[in-house]
Amino acid sequence: MIFEATMKSVTVGEFIVETQNTFPGSSGELSKILSAIKLASKIVSHHINKAGLAKEILGSSGAENIQGEDQQKLDVFANDTFINALSARGVICGVASEENDSYIAFDDKVNNEAKYVVLIDPLDGSSNIDVNVSVGTIFSVFRRKTAKGEPVQLVDFLQKGDEQVAAGYLIYGSSTMLVYTTGNGVNGFTFDPGIGVFFLSHPNMKIPTNGAIYSVNEGNLSSFKQPVKDYISYCQSSEDNGTKKPYSSRYIGSLVADFHRNLIKGGIYMYPSTESSPNGKLRLTYECSPLAFIIEQAGGRAISENGRIMDIIPNDLHQRVPFFIGSKNMVDQLEQLMESAT
Ligand code: AHG
Ligand code: MN
Ligand code: MN
Repeated sequence: MIFEATMKSVTVGEFIVETQNTFPGSSGELSKILSAIKLASKIVSHHINKAGLAKEILGSSGAENIQGEDQQKLDVFANDTFINALSARGVICGVASEENDSYIAFDDKVNNEAKYVVLIDPLDGSSNIDVNVSVGTIFSVFRRKTAKGEPVQLVDFLQKGDEQVAAGYLIYGSSTMLVYTTGNGVNGFTFDPGIGVFFLSHPNMKIPTNGAIYSVNEGNLSSFKQPVKDYISYCQSSEDNGTKKPYSSRYIGSLVADFHRNLIKGGIYMYPSTESSPNGKLRLTYECSPLAFIIEQAGGRAISENGRIMDIIPNDLHQRVPFFIGSKNMVDQLEQLMESAT
């Protein structure tokens, strides 16, 4: 059931109430999970938008995360903000984050009774903050597998993408938007900072089946596998992509920003395996799986080098996988090149 709404007349809170019955077995937990995410995103958005002025929140924190990446101060701020908001609602028993080596159990009487876990990339594209380029947050929601009443376990977080009950992202760009799915289509909400509310602005989002945009860091081209090289050179030499436009290369360097543009305009984002990153760079549990859920709900596809992203059972919280996601016919074409190379 798609809640027919005109622009700016439906807030995300009202939309959730209208569509609550589409969230499996929920008695209001979805709205509590999303209200925690909404609150944290407003705080993070506010800090990002003044980052250029508030020097104390710009730049590196001086620490490294488990990925071996230089943690930006806003990575740490966003992480703390989302984890505090998620632990305060009594509907989540634990969180796993890009910025924490292991998962965090909300081990108290109330939260141990909660049904859901959340995995999060609190700030995606954070290397772009200091140069005022759009960044984002990505989140994924699963039902716990272990019995309620006990502290959450690692197994609750290592579930394949098909088991997700909700997934979404925030993009902190020219406007702040929340885009999410609970398995009944994809809807986008734009934040009105004047009144502090997200309004339904992009109901029932669908990615065009064909696209003319390919997004990849071509600086790594020499170390891509041959099918990926062949696909990129096809894009660079062909006019035939099912649209009336020639191919364009667009790469922002923030996954959420590249993904969001391609979701609206059509396109493919690729982070293949490279010599330095044989499993690619992007993390399965809190980047690839949630975006794969969204793109499939929007009529697109998401694959790795050997099959569908949402079929992969994670073996580690921070597992990296080669990642190809976007318009169905573009991913199909790349997949055919991969299959004919085996
Ligand atoms: P994060 O900031 O969460 O670590 O994610 C960065 C990711 C993704 O957002 C982006 O598309 C990609 O890194 C860019 O990687 P390269 O700079 O290697 O192209
Ligand atoms: Mn990221
Ligand atoms: Mn990140």
